[in-house]
Amino acid sequence: MDGPAAAASGAAFDAGAVIEIAERLQGLEGPLLPILHALMDRFGHVDERAIPVIAEVLNLSRAEVHGVVSFYHDFRRMPAGRHVVRQCRAEACQAMGGEALAADLERQLGVSFGGTTADGRVTLEAVYCLGNCALSPAALVDGELVGRADADGILARVAGGAR
Ligand code: FES
Repeated sequence: MDGPAAAASGAAFDAGAVIEIAERLQGLEGPLLPILHALMDRFGHVDERAIPVIAEVLNLSRAEVHGVVSFYHDFRRMPAGRHVVRQCRAEACQAMGGEALAADLERQLGVSFGGTTADGRVTLEAVYCLGNCALSPAALVDGELVGRADADGILARVAGGAR
């Protein structure tokens, strides 16, 4: 997956680049996921307009491509905010206060998971296990792993790196 800079770049849609990526990776076994990850790296999200392009190259239906993009939380559909907070919503973290943390983040940011603040500053996303269960609840803030996370600490990081 992409780093925070690429994730937040929201590069403009470029059909030619989508075709180039899809054609370059179409020979892989199970090429759809690598193509979608490559689009995330390049654009920071999978634009709706990329779906028919990928479907055409892979000889799939638009619905098939759309289904995969929708199924995986990793594939952002819209450009991200300048900062990306990804909170683990998996079981171990939920058992250690993850629900309360999620509610705090949504309330303090004024967005639901999957959303971006109105000023474009922060995107809040769910992930499912960051491999940091021993220090749950866990989050990634602009790609940096945070253990025993709390909303104030997370928001201070976002504010500290204000862009
Ligand atoms: S369950 Fe949250 S880091 Fe593993």
